[in-house]
Amino acid sequence: MACIVVVGTQWGDEGKGKIVDLLTADADVIVRFQGGNNAGHTIVFDGQKFILHLIPSGIFHPEKTCLIGNGVVIDPQVLLGEIDNLEAKGVSVPPGHLYVSERAHLIMPYHKAIDHGREAKKGKTKIGTTGRGIGPCYEDKIARRGIKVGDLLDEELFKAKLEEVLEEKNFYLREYLGQEPLDFQEIYESYLEMGKRLAPYVTNVSLELEKARNRGAKILFEGAQGTQLDIDHGTYPFVTSSNTVAGGACHGAGVGPTTIDFVLGICKAYTTRVGGGPFPTELFDETGEYMRERGGEFGSTTGRPRRCGWLDGVVLREAVRLNGLSALAITKLDVLSGLNPLKVCVAYRVDGERRETFPANIREVERVEPIYEELPGWEEDISQVRRFEDLPQATKDYLRWIEDFAGVPVDLVSVGPARDQTIVLRNPFQR
Ligand code: GDP
Ligand code: IMO
Ligand code: MG
Repeated sequence: MACIVVVGTQWGDEGKGKIVDLLTADADVIVRFQGGNNAGHTIVFDGQKFILHLIPSGIFHPEKTCLIGNGVVIDPQVLLGEIDNLEAKGVSVPPGHLYVSERAHLIMPYHKAIDHGREAKKGKTKIGTTGRGIGPCYEDKIARRGIKVGDLLDEELFKAKLEEVLEEKNFYLREYLGQEPLDFQEIYESYLEMGKRLAPYVTNVSLELEKARNRGAKILFEGAQGTQLDIDHGTYPFVTSSNTVAGGACHGAGVGPTTIDFVLGICKAYTTRVGGGPFPTELFDETGEYMRERGGEFGSTTGRPRRCGWLDGVVLREAVRLNGLSALAITKLDVLSGLNPLKVCVAYRVDGERRETFPANIREVERVEPIYEELPGWEEDISQVRRFEDLPQATKDYLRWIEDFAGVPVDLVSVGPARDQTIVLRNPFQR
């Protein structure tokens, strides 16, 4: 397979970063296509831990090309900070190793101010965003008043756009959110300065991908967030503001659907969610606490404790359908050791009626009760296992159950955060 899309099948933090870093060994080009620095992708190797927010998780392989596509929203301060941070740790990030789309939209200071101001105003009904300005930036893109990375390289254009939009934003900040207006000159100067540093990285990502395909390169598309956070198909309005499903790779990177050969869904062996919104299999007891502690379930971006619960088969089947999954990577299976029995949600009950899919109505979603099946658990520590045959029988049965229920094969099993803590049943690039 030459072009593989990696997506989260749940509410994010499934371990996409780890799997992308692993698969990068066989890829030539790695592309982010949506989201922004709301993402936090953790990579662990040689005893070191890195958390990436914007830069693709392939960056640790110096000979590979990493691209940030037009569908990503970019906070230039965060991007430059991430480059500096990596370089300080000995990871070189020169232009050529990393490129950024000229068409990607910029997160501006008013996007962050609005994100915070709105959440504060909403109080109890807030979404629990990451506060990074993601939603307000995508809003401006769709409303055709966004500022793109390429605009920063044209001083006159940038000035005109900023002047026009800031007037409206300051009105909103002052009059509706009761906040201090932002200073034009300060934003203008600091962004132009950052634009100068970013300039050598800026390119036409779609064109780079075409060139890569023409020379037979293998391409890995790195999704952020998860299927249930998709703006169209997730638990709206408790979602992020981009299309997180595999189709997003096409418009977010500038390739056609026929480019994609394979879609790999990353699925945690249980479920987590950060922020507000429905979560049918959420646990509020010591089992949830066990998952949080053993799994280190604290947000990579905001540090918030993640809500934890059993694996949700309804969510999994939604992910199979919405992404056209070819295979699954099951992660954090090691975390379940010691829980017996295990529960898996096979359907929902809403107002006494059995449902096999997620209701679209948010009020109905809130009334969903999970219908569980029990499966035997295992006590053994599996974090050192590297071959499927060496897993305890109950662990193998759990994986087989997932395959049967989802109707797609499990190609990879992750039993720890490090690169080598992985059981590779089939390497998607070598299929
Ligand atoms: P992402 O956003 O999907 O890339 O996932 P995050 O990096 O936010 O969260 C996944 C967390 O689980 C990180 O701390 C990873 O280091 C860790 N992790 C990934 N795979 C495994 C695994 O198989 N077992 C354990 N115990 N931890 C893992
Ligand atoms: P990765 O790529 C988990 C959640 C936020 C909030 C909602 C909207 O690491 O899996 P936003 O700031 O995007 O407007 O917040 O989406 N969220 C994530 N949850 N993992 C992520 O990314 C997330 N990115 C956003 O917590 O509920
Ligand atoms: Mg994450």
